[in-house]
Amino acid sequence: MIKISTAVVASFALLALSACATTTSTETATPAPAAPAAAPAAPAAPAAMANAAAIEAGQSTFQTRCAGCHREGASAPSPAALKGFGHAKIVEALTTGKMMRQGSSLTADDKSNVATFLTK
Ligand code: HEC
Repeated sequence: MIKISTAVVASFALLALSACATTTSTETATPAPAAPAAAPAAPAAPAAMANAAAIEAGQSTFQTRCAGCHREGASAPSPAALKGFGHAKIVEALTTGKMMRQGSSLTADDKSNVATFLTK
């Protein structure tokens, strides 16, 4: 379980980073300031805890930045529908897709975390 979580978290991070690398948007060009949030957890705590931290951070981002439109019963796709998109698609939507505007002020970590929360 923990090994799988590590791989999942790691691949999410890579996906988020590669998504950034291939986009021309400027807001994701500096992932460095956000890195400390995830970095210290990795060596000290099991991956499951890093994942829990990502989910918690993602939940907070979702509540403040997404829920207004994406809560249950609202016009935009529900959280359950968003889950169906999968982590990579959610990050992609926020980076180069339909949610680009909503994602424009989020860091790569924010996007990854909110996607982790939605797909947990
Ligand atoms: C202002 C309202 C609004 C906010 C805020 C918002 N969304 Fe959306 N979102 C929508 C609407 C409306 C759609 C459906 C768009 C469509 O299908 O044309 C959508 C679609 C999506 C999709 C599917 C994209 C696709 O390719 O079909 C994802 C994923 C998504 N939103 C994630 C998020 C996340 C994560 C956040 C918070 C960071 C967020 N949205 C914030 C209104 C919003």
